[in-house]
Amino acid sequence: MPDNSFHIVVMPGDGIGPEVTAAAIAVLEVAAARHALDLRFTHVEGGAARYRETGVALDENGFELAERADAILFGAMGLPDVRRPDGTEPAPQLDLRFRMQLYAGLRPIRAIPGVPLALAAPRAGEIDFALVRESTEGLFASRGKGIVTDDREAVDTMRITRPVTERLSTFAFALAERRSRRRNRRGKVTIIDKSNVFVSFAFMRKIFFEAAARYPGITADQHSIDATALDLIRRPWDFDVMVTENMFGDILSDLGAGLVGGMGFAPSADIGDRHALFQPCHGSAPDIAGRDIANPTAAILSAAMMLDWLGERHGLASCQEAAAEIEAAVDAAFGSGAARSHDIGGTDTTGAVARQIIARLPPGRTI
Ligand code: NAI
Ligand code: MG
Repeated sequence: MPDNSFHIVVMPGDGIGPEVTAAAIAVLEVAAARHALDLRFTHVEGGAARYRETGVALDENGFELAERADAILFGAMGLPDVRRPDGTEPAPQLDLRFRMQLYAGLRPIRAIPGVPLALAAPRAGEIDFALVRESTEGLFASRGKGIVTDDREAVDTMRITRPVTERLSTFAFALAERRSRRRNRRGKVTIIDKSNVFVSFAFMRKIFFEAAARYPGITADQHSIDATALDLIRRPWDFDVMVTENMFGDILSDLGAGLVGGMGFAPSADIGDRHALFQPCHGSAPDIAGRDIANPTAAILSAAMMLDWLGERHGLASCQEAAAEIEAAVDAAFGSGAARSHDIGGTDTTGAVARQIIARLPPGRTI
């Protein structure tokens, strides 16, 4: 395929997944056309509803299509009442992370102009940090392997490995370098752990500081998970890049989303050395599904992250420009007060938010 042509596998999933994914694709198509990017979409079915019908949440063909794609755009999968025999939910989003080795779960947390903030502190508007959640091991390594003995005791095991921690740390420092160039300030990476108590975290911390030595231009720091819960409320604007174990990252990313308007504003990327998947941080939100009131902003910003990643990977500046234009259009739509989604007290439908964002993309080029 030519350099500006990308094959995107789309997995809308369950609940509001298809609603926000459609909105994200509408924005992507306009932004891509302006830069003459050729995005080809292949839709793949999967999720809890599919598991209920067929017994398989995502079939082998779906995994293989994902592995062959240039990138994956994902909605959300899972419905709380659809369970496997062991009581857990089928979760292809976790299977994809493990199978495709998408170890770096990148969740940018940024205050968007015009979006009400949870904190009253004036500096809350400066919140702009990136959480890197390890996504293939940690406590989640125990998924499907936990043991319940005689209905008396349950055990799940934490697993931290050197190769993944090295790659994860390198990813975090490289990200801090990029952010520091874009923001014109010294970058900082903070590892969030519980190394005062657990050997697994002490090991992770040791490897993190080994990697830090290769990045003298970036400040490396360590903070305990419990103190981080406090400081994300007390002084979240002081963080730049945070890197952490899978379970801690799962929790902190929802806390982070809460700081900047809720799940509807929190995008994410699951990145590996060869593949990447882009999805909003939120789930299928069955409580609001089918009512056309889901906020598509997280999905739209995730689509922008996809363009940014494709542009970086393929050395295509126009792709990164399109990503920046989507982000700027989101800021302009909410910052002007024109976009007001339901989760922040407005009345915009999912499509209306997308249209407000599209209306603020730069005018089309004539080629
Ligand atoms: P959730 O993120 O779906 O919903 C949490 C709360 O945030 C709900 O009140 C919901 O209405 C609200 N919310 C979420 N996204 C929103 C949006 N775009 N606009 C407005 N409000 C929004 O989390 P929950 O309820 O714990 O999980 C529901 C299902 O989703 C479960 O089956 C869960 O396993 C699955 N899930 C899937 C994920 C994925 O596919 N990556 C991630 C998290 C949960
Ligand atoms: Mg979660």
